[in-house]
Amino acid sequence: MEEEKVYWKPGNLIYPVPAVMVTVADGEGKSNILTIAWTGTVCTNPPMAYISVRPERYSYGMLKKTGEFVINLTTEALVHATDYCGVTSGRDRDKWKDTGLTPGRASVVNVPVIMESPVHIECRVTEVKELGSHHMFLAEVVAIDVDGKQIDEKGKFHLEQTKPIVYSHGEYYGLNELLGTFGYSIRKKK
Ligand SMILES: Cc1cc2nc3c(=O)[nH]c(=O)nc-3n(C[C@H](O)[C@H](O)[C@H](O)COP(=O)(O)O)c2cc1C
Repeated sequence: MEEEKVYWKPGNLIYPVPAVMVTVADGEGKSNILTIAWTGTVCTNPPMAYISVRPERYSYGMLKKTGEFVINLTTEALVHATDYCGVTSGRDRDKWKDTGLTPGRASVVNVPVIMESPVHIECRVTEVKELGSHHMFLAEVVAIDVDGKQIDEKGKFHLEQTKPIVYSHGEYYGLNELLGTFGYSIRKKK
């Protein structure tokens, strides 16, 4: 049989991507967690990241108000909570209570971090781009907090030990197998 390409209308199919739990706060004691897949690094120096959020999300108002958020990386142990925080709204539920996740103090921003998450990326919004369905919050990374348990005696941080997850076309996966390391394709064999 002849191989065939199927042409679809324009859409989004860049997968896998991270599914992170973003925390936000209103500055008056209320905070919330929402799951975000439209996120990424946009600049190394200064360190910058983005999240894209629909204005109808409950979290949107808090984000707009304080201009601060925390990207909490997710793990296999957190996959259930990750999904839950992406299908329920802080309008109706206290997601901290429902998931049993523990709020902790961030080092710079006034937004709680999720203690069970191994990496907290503290962000301050520099620009909001109203793109369409989603508004992109471009942000400067103002602090990073990592779980000390994953740092070895040489100071190397073992993210792989936290069992990160990815989100791909509606499904969550763990990372199975190490296939190579940065630059291995041109590295001389010893
Ligand atoms: C895996 C996953 C990824 C998601 N990614 C986004 C996203 O990038 N942007 C967004 O606005 N909503 C995203 N959502 C939906 C929100 O997390 C969801 O609407 C949530 O209920 C919003 O919570 P809130 O109303 O408490 O703010 C995602 C949901 C899931 C499950």
